[in-house]
Amino acid sequence: MIHLHEEAARCLLCENAPCGDQVSRAIRALRFENKWTAAELLAQLNDSEIEAAQQACIHYDRPIRIGELRSRVENIKQEKTVEYQSDSLPSLEINFCDMVCENPFFLASSAICTNYEMVARALEAGWAGVFYKTICKQDISEVSPRFDAVRKEATAFIGFRNMEQLSENPYSVDFEILHRLKQNYPSKRIIASIMGQTEEEWIELAQMAEEAGCDAVELNFSCPQMRLTGLGSDIGQNPELILFYTSYVRQAVSIPVIPKMTPNIMSMTSPALACFYGGANGISAINTIKSITMSHEAEVSEKKTVSGYSGKAVKPIALRMIYEMTGNPLLHKAGIEKHMDISGIGGIETWRDALDFIQLGCRNVQVCTAVMQYGYRIIDDLILGLQHYMQERGIVELKKLVGEELKNIVLPHDLDRETMVFPKIDREKCIGCGRCYVSCMDGGHQAIAFGEDRQPRIIGTKCVGCHLCRLVCPTGAIGQAKRMNKPQK
Ligand SMILES: Cc1cc2nc3c(=O)[nH]c(=O)nc-3n(C[C@H](O)[C@H](O)[C@H](O)COP(=O)(O)O)c2cc1C
Ligand code: SF4
Ligand code: SF4
Repeated sequence: MIHLHEEAARCLLCENAPCGDQVSRAIRALRFENKWTAAELLAQLNDSEIEAAQQACIHYDRPIRIGELRSRVENIKQEKTVEYQSDSLPSLEINFCDMVCENPFFLASSAICTNYEMVARALEAGWAGVFYKTICKQDISEVSPRFDAVRKEATAFIGFRNMEQLSENPYSVDFEILHRLKQNYPSKRIIASIMGQTEEEWIELAQMAEEAGCDAVELNFSCPQMRLTGLGSDIGQNPELILFYTSYVRQAVSIPVIPKMTPNIMSMTSPALACFYGGANGISAINTIKSITMSHEAEVSEKKTVSGYSGKAVKPIALRMIYEMTGNPLLHKAGIEKHMDISGIGGIETWRDALDFIQLGCRNVQVCTAVMQYGYRIIDDLILGLQHYMQERGIVELKKLVGEELKNIVLPHDLDRETMVFPKIDREKCIGCGRCYVSCMDGGHQAIAFGEDRQPRIIGTKCVGCHLCRLVCPTGAIGQAKRMNKPQK
């Protein structure tokens, strides 16, 4: 029996895939956690079509086992309780900073949106809007190479490092592009990201954004690799400067003003308060995390620098920073949730990632690295996955999900410390690899016995229910037993 997600993860996600549109689309849906669409598409194919697709597969090692993927997906389909109804999926429309957005998914200001054609293709693919590549009046000349990646086992990359600064286009060209985008895509949300060097420049760029017809303006207080000090994340680290520039822009334009925050700080509380008192309508968070990678291939003429880290690996940090704003009693007391909406960014690849941000209080989410890795096409499963999830839960309005998990986040000392959950081994799934034993021996409590029969056994008197074994098991054979009181010491 194959492992569904492991086999889907082997697929190369080929362009114009030789296995055919329907099969490649189904595997992509699986890859991006949208089992509903995968099941629907695979069920429509007969055995000979599946066989032909498998034979056409160009995988460099061995073809993807498409027939087995279909059987596994059919099993999942039989387990479900709600019939998939693709013809009556809920709308994802949501208000963000008083803008009606057809869905919450926007391109994040970056390399994925630097000219008209790119943004137009993304909007046509289904993205609801764009925070366009940051526009400035500085001379920008980018380095080569400018990217590096952190890899893990078979994964292409889990973290991404970039040394890119701002738009290399003359600023008047960028505003002309934004004007054309708004004219040609009136129902989409076109947002200019700007960075000034002086208050006059911030105001000038913001007014040009408004004149170009932009729906809002994002203030880049967060680029971690600017050439001059006092720009980018230097502003985001200084609440006084945040307040100063936000209020100048706020007074100069009537469109929503959305500062974009840096994660390179201790806490979001003061920067968020500064945005609030500066009159911001929303906050985007996070930009990239300051980092260094050491590979020689990524050096620029044999030199390295500190620059921004993004992608899947940063998501938990981004979520923590969002929570510091949406779950912060101090900020609630000031009333910020009534006046500012939050756009969540950092490591979003699938609809589940996006949902995490939404359930922590975001009304909008932005994606950069996942588009660089997989293309604009990931919007298909962001939209359909979230719609199917809502349908399964009987939720008809996306706003119902906003912040719904906040009530379940508590301080460490408020967690239940009286009970525990034992791991539970499913013998049918266990292949006797012993990974759980190795990790429990060297990183746990020596609570798994593993003998010549290759059957791991939990030693109840030693197990503390930490669940390291469950996390390392490669076959998903370790689940959870019922929560119970901790044994008396
Ligand atoms: C190549 C690259 C270029 C970027 N350029 C900008 C930029 O011009 N302005 C900006 O505000 N953020 C910029 N960012 C940051 C992204 O918008 C985003 O905040 C960050 O990458 C985290 O999201 P992600 O994990 O989805 O990539 C850039 C990121 C990357 C990877
Ligand atoms: S040809 Fe093979 S590797 Fe390429 S998309 Fe199809 S199944 Fe995946
Ligand atoms: S890690 Fe999983 S598959 Fe391997 S022995 Fe332990 S329970 Fe079995």
